[in-house]
Amino acid sequence: MSEQTKPKVLILIFGATGDLAKRKLYPSIYRLVNNGTISQDFAVVGLARRQWTNEVFRENVAESVQHAFEDADDLEQFASHFHYHSFDVTKDQAYIDMEKLVHELEDQYDTAGNRLFYLAMAPEFFGQIANKLKEHGLKETSGWTRLIIEKPFGHDLASAKELNSKIRAAFDEDEIFRIDHYLGKQMVQNIEVIRFANGIFEHLWNNRFISNIQITSSETLGVEDRSRYYDDSGAIRDMVQNHMLQMVALLAMEPPIKLTTDEIRSEKIKVLRALRQLNPNEVHEHFVRGQYGSGEIKGESVVGYRNESEDLVFSNTETFVAGKLFIDNYRWAGVPFYIRTGKRMKAKETKIVIEFKDIPMNLYFKSERERHPNLLVIHIQPDEGIALYLNAKKAGSEALAEPIELSYNQNAIHSINTPEAYEKLLYDCMIGDATNFTHWDEVALSWKFIDSILNVWKEELPNFPNYDAGSMGPEKSSQLLQQNGFHWWEV
Ligand code: BG6
Repeated sequence: MSEQTKPKVLILIFGATGDLAKRKLYPSIYRLVNNGTISQDFAVVGLARRQWTNEVFRENVAESVQHAFEDADDLEQFASHFHYHSFDVTKDQAYIDMEKLVHELEDQYDTAGNRLFYLAMAPEFFGQIANKLKEHGLKETSGWTRLIIEKPFGHDLASAKELNSKIRAAFDEDEIFRIDHYLGKQMVQNIEVIRFANGIFEHLWNNRFISNIQITSSETLGVEDRSRYYDDSGAIRDMVQNHMLQMVALLAMEPPIKLTTDEIRSEKIKVLRALRQLNPNEVHEHFVRGQYGSGEIKGESVVGYRNESEDLVFSNTETFVAGKLFIDNYRWAGVPFYIRTGKRMKAKETKIVIEFKDIPMNLYFKSERERHPNLLVIHIQPDEGIALYLNAKKAGSEALAEPIELSYNQNAIHSINTPEAYEKLLYDCMIGDATNFTHWDEVALSWKFIDSILNVWKEELPNFPNYDAGSMGPEKSSQLLQQNGFHWWEV
């Protein structure tokens, strides 16, 4: 990459002492600089309430990078670009002082007036910060100004709308980058390529040849120290409204006419518009919620959700969701999209299984039970790759046909250099590419769908806990598929 194409930037991180900044943002910035993806003309301003000095901040940054990459070097030089500014988001004076600091740093580091504001803190302040930035002239610059917003983007459609209109009063839609970190994952980005760059898949990618699609994102971790946020949110807001529905959109969208942000987003939006809204009486039939009780994960006993912290003792928040979705358009009429996600499950894994319709006659298997439909599995994480299950006769085997697996494992090859989702997304924002960020219309349509489920759930007390930690969720999640003659593929 030539020096000219490397973005120059001043990054302002609100919530600089927080977990996300430490775990994801500092290591990602380090990689971008160290790999020469962005210019050496960069600086970072860390903003948070704590009274840290530049030195303390830099030590923290260096530590977090070291933690992520043991062999990181030149950390002192890297961290010297980081400056700390103790900040109360509600005080005007804080913005006045910040503006002064921004000008000084822009002179010192020659960042071409490009300013990236990253909101990695409590969402209740997002609107206020965006407006105060504008009010205090921080958007007036010779370069660009962009705003990255972490989730959650609202709690339901009404609050998301309110937040959006506050932010839009200060920033245009094309300056707003709403993070969904799943869109930064290599294999999520690959869904589109696997589909549209391969005739053998794209020609079959419809209701004539596909019987159902299954998306699983399971986690082994529990609620950790996020109980305050999580208990208010639950799995459906935390994972389904954003990550799971984004994967559905990518799997179901029509090919874009061009690979531009607007074209791709507009195809995804159409899918979300075609997502069948459930009548209240259908919600229980199509959606299953769960909460984990105690159990065992990888040989270790773990406590149930209600025992994770004192304030969760009476909690009725779901830590698991499974659902059956329909997309009412020509391509997908009648094909169920099954999704499931949860905490404290058997394994940490995200994968997509596309099950193809079976051949009409069973010539090659002794019984119906042995028949194995063709499957395409997209492994999102921790394995990154694809596997195709076909039937063939194995040498020396008695059976006429047996499933065989053709697989490609991407991380076996590129593991060391696979960029983190956050690294890709930060870079995309710096070059103004919003394709892998969520447009407001996607956010709004997703909330509309989620609200219709939550409205029914809130009327009825669930019978929790209903799955053991270390399992694949409540029994009802399997029944969701059995009703249609399917089962979750554990492949
Ligand atoms: C986040 C959720 O958005 O995604 C977390 O808030 C969840 O609760 C995480 O653990 C899962 O992300 P990943 O990349 O580990 O699958």
